[in-house]
Amino acid sequence: MSDKKLWAGRFSEPTDAFVEAFTASVEFDQRLAPYDIQGSIAHATMLARQGILSETERDAIIGGLLRILARIDAGEFAWSVALEDVHMNIESALTDDIGIAGKKLHTGRSRNDQVATDVRLWLRAELIDIRIALRRLQRALLDLAEREADTIMPGFTHLQTAQPITFGHHMMAWFEMLERDHGRLVDCAVRVNVMPLGAAALAGTSYPIDRDFAARELAFDRPAENSLDAVSDRDFAIEFAAAASILMMHLSRMSEELIIWSSAQFGFVTLSDSFCTGSSIMPQKKNPDVPELIRGKSGRVFGHLMALLTLMKSQPLAYNKDNQEDKEPLFDTVDNVKGSLKVFADMVPAITCHRDAMRAAALKGFATATDLADYLVRKGTPFRDAHEVVGRAVAHCVQQSCDLADLSLQDLQRFSPTIDADVFDFLTLEGSVAARNHVGGTAPSQVRAAVARARERID
Ligand code: ARG
Repeated sequence: MSDKKLWAGRFSEPTDAFVEAFTASVEFDQRLAPYDIQGSIAHATMLARQGILSETERDAIIGGLLRILARIDAGEFAWSVALEDVHMNIESALTDDIGIAGKKLHTGRSRNDQVATDVRLWLRAELIDIRIALRRLQRALLDLAEREADTIMPGFTHLQTAQPITFGHHMMAWFEMLERDHGRLVDCAVRVNVMPLGAAALAGTSYPIDRDFAARELAFDRPAENSLDAVSDRDFAIEFAAAASILMMHLSRMSEELIIWSSAQFGFVTLSDSFCTGSSIMPQKKNPDVPELIRGKSGRVFGHLMALLTLMKSQPLAYNKDNQEDKEPLFDTVDNVKGSLKVFADMVPAITCHRDAMRAAALKGFATATDLADYLVRKGTPFRDAHEVVGRAVAHCVQQSCDLADLSLQDLQRFSPTIDADVFDFLTLEGSVAARNHVGGTAPSQVRAAVARARERID
């Protein structure tokens, strides 16, 4: 293949060898090849329809592009750094293959609108894959929530035991976090699906192009309104990176909880051996590597968001070479989000819940203190006074190293004479969770109803 630069006309000296490698993007943007070819086929089809290319030229171009795609897929395409990027590699190979017609493909187009179109086509496809992976994880969480709808564990605030909750309810909290992430991805896809093609270098083109036709060919919702904005806009990339960052932040929080829960000190869950590794020195160790790595990967994705924001913040209109730097952060974000979602979804069904350990933990830490206060309120004590009474009962238990439910009725009545034997219905863990029986509450029946509603929402 000829390495002759497609823009060599006005140059009299060759490119410095290091500069050539420094400015090239082909090593990473070759990933856009299928979308570059898809965009070129639509462009050539439009040009022929408008009489700018002949039908013979169009057919030669499309045939040549498809042969190039087959060579790329087969790993037989020789990428050239001297040809800088995916666009010029493909165009040069096309001309090598079909001759003069190949040189006409770039009529009425620039790499500036071409690359912006390619990245949008690529991200549109990746967004679909990410949403499928996210849904798979959500379904796994719904199954787990249903399985553990009755499992009682301590709920925490400040990582101190607060009130009893059900494990299923906790899983449904994770589900809701991810549901908002899904919504953000759907929303982002709307702004991704706008076509830059036709903006050419920055000002549009003097050829009688039909942008609506090209947009329909490529299944874009519409052509971008303004040519300067079309070649320069990377909001869609930043928006995606922001949605991906929030998603990774959620996965990181979920990972953190799994890491804590699987420690010997908590012992709430066991992760399957296939998602853990051992230590090379400590024979007893089983480390929760997968959640730890996902927690760690959130950092690089946040970094990519910051990189993209900084990339754009001082750019004057329209295209600047800076924009070539959008690709690696985007590619890496997609790879890590997809990987993290896949492994998390694989891991969830294999989580073993230690119901006894969770229950024992919920019995410690006075998780039902609020229930006792609520009980007193129902018997006519104002809430602030009830709070005070229960506080004194808890202080007594701390001194005696026992739980509220361990106190006898007589003991309890020393704190408030309004307490009757029925108090024990409220001091039990089951009574406590069952009482929170409203939409969004932790009662097992509410968890089951929430799971059922969620299944409908995501179908
Ligand atoms: N490789 C370039 C990029 O990724 C393609 C566009 C180049 N345009 C230009 N005017 N140099 O942004």
